[in-house]
Amino acid sequence: MVSQLLDEVTGNIRQNLKGKGILACSGGTDSSVLAVAAAMAAPQNVKTIFIDTGLLRIGERERVEKLFRDFNIQGEVIDASETFIKNLSGITDPEKKRKIIGETFIRVFEEAASRSDVQYLLQGTIAPDWIESGGKNRDAIKSHHNVGGLPEKMNLKLIEPLRDLYKDEVRQLSKELGLNEYLQPFPGPGLAVRILGEVTRERLDRLRRATRIVEETIEERYNPEDRPWQYFAIYLPVKTTGVHGDKRSYGDTIAIRAVNSLDAMTATFSMIDWNILEDISVRISNEIEGINRVVYDVTHKPPGTIEWE
Ligand code: XMP
Repeated sequence: MVSQLLDEVTGNIRQNLKGKGILACSGGTDSSVLAVAAAMAAPQNVKTIFIDTGLLRIGERERVEKLFRDFNIQGEVIDASETFIKNLSGITDPEKKRKIIGETFIRVFEEAASRSDVQYLLQGTIAPDWIESGGKNRDAIKSHHNVGGLPEKMNLKLIEPLRDLYKDEVRQLSKELGLNEYLQPFPGPGLAVRILGEVTRERLDRLRRATRIVEETIEERYNPEDRPWQYFAIYLPVKTTGVHGDKRSYGDTIAIRAVNSLDAMTATFSMIDWNILEDISVRISNEIEGINRVVYDVTHKPPGTIEWE
């Protein structure tokens, strides 16, 4: 039986979409729920774009490709990783990185929209995205925090079918639609803001593997309800000495961050079992060439933010 919530969202899409629409799905909860609801409401009239920025975690693209297949979504996967990495080359300032990623995303999306004869843009804005600031700074928040802060000059009519929903309602919908795996929050600019200094292919590759090791170990060792709220790796281009075989080496550093939080506004670092940290550390230093040292971040928010950039 279709819930009232799902009925409202699909009803909103049917009512407002009077032509063809396009949306960007990042693979996160909000945009995935939107993509599925839109495919249910108007299967012929909505095109869903997934942009592979090259800044994603292992398995993310495949998860979205499966979503497209499982729900008969008219989806297009655009591999723009070359462009993103080229545009980020030589950039070390965190704000510049975010800006370049945001702009590149918009350009790639615009290009896809211009190929697609569409009149509507569907966005997965939810209530906290605009209510937090008293509703005034809506656009500022979107552009600050979301890569998908898409441009007005595209001349598309905006539809926001989830805009009255709170996160728990979106999660409820996600569960109802069978997308019920719990997803950690993940920043729009992706792994780029978890690499201090320049983003290079080599660093991305190492960070992706370290992130996987952190995820696998924590998910194996903790039941879902006992896991930290967010857990990931950060790449530090800080060289320290190490010994590999009988040789001295200089390698970079991986930091592990795991936090508990309710709403990301404040957070405490998770007191992860030493044995679990040991497993993570041993695997990272054994499996990832070029990494000599693993450290654990014991900073609460405030004063630290959850992400390092
Ligand atoms: P900070 O680092 O500000 O992060 O303590 C708070 C939460 O927000 C996530 N985060 C982002 N999410 N776009 C997003 O959609 C972003 O640019 C972004 N930056 C940080 C972060 O992972 C944490 O959950």
